[in-house]
Amino acid sequence: MLRDLMQKNRSYRRFQQEVAVDLQTLRELVDLARLSASAGNMQPLRYILSCDPEKNAVVFPNLAWARYIENWPGPAEGERPSAYIIVLEDRQVDHPLHCDHGIAAQSILLGATERGLGGCIIGSINKLNLRNELNIPVRYDILLVIALGKPKEKVEIEKLGTDGDVKYWRDSEGVHHVPKRALDEIILPL
Ligand SMILES: Cc1cc2nc3c(=O)[nH]c(=O)nc-3n(C[C@H](O)[C@H](O)[C@H](O)COP(=O)(O)O)c2cc1C
Repeated sequence: MLRDLMQKNRSYRRFQQEVAVDLQTLRELVDLARLSASAGNMQPLRYILSCDPEKNAVVFPNLAWARYIENWPGPAEGERPSAYIIVLEDRQVDHPLHCDHGIAAQSILLGATERGLGGCIIGSINKLNLRNELNIPVRYDILLVIALGKPKEKVEIEKLGTDGDVKYWRDSEGVHHVPKRALDEIILPL
């Protein structure tokens, strides 16, 4: 079952924008992150939730989408995420940040997938702008934005070709293809 969830848990970048994701759902997703592993159990992560169209419209222009897909500026109006979870580090937690935010993001996305939703981790963020526009205090470092919604696109996993090209692509039908390395390539015979 977890493998099915992992298989379905792709990065989706086009959504049925008219399908709302409510605040309670976002809170439940953050609760999954709350239960996740944390280095030194310091739990430095904080979250900002956005699921109303005005706030979403502030977040969206500060994100960069799908760098390998040329001439695509990101989802058009009508296909944009219905919600976002902004993942922050509280700098007042006195501990070096490890990979807590990656683990939290995966927990959130698996929870979203289980609910028939989907999303995309966005690391390419105009942090300065987003901070200013949402009045995020400097105490909090912006780490990731997780875009969420009801996926409108099909995503398929492909075998990585012999040329080793990791770039994902979109075919003429609009299906998104993601090459993944083979298991025997990533488990070293050492
Ligand atoms: C830390 C991190 C940052 C990412 N940042 C972006 C981003 O800024 N924009 C984007 O469109 N996708 C981003 N992604 C999504 C990756 O492109 C995606 O995970 C990859 O293409 C593999 O596809 P998959 O998630 O369906 O396996 C990011 C993923 C991770 C883990």
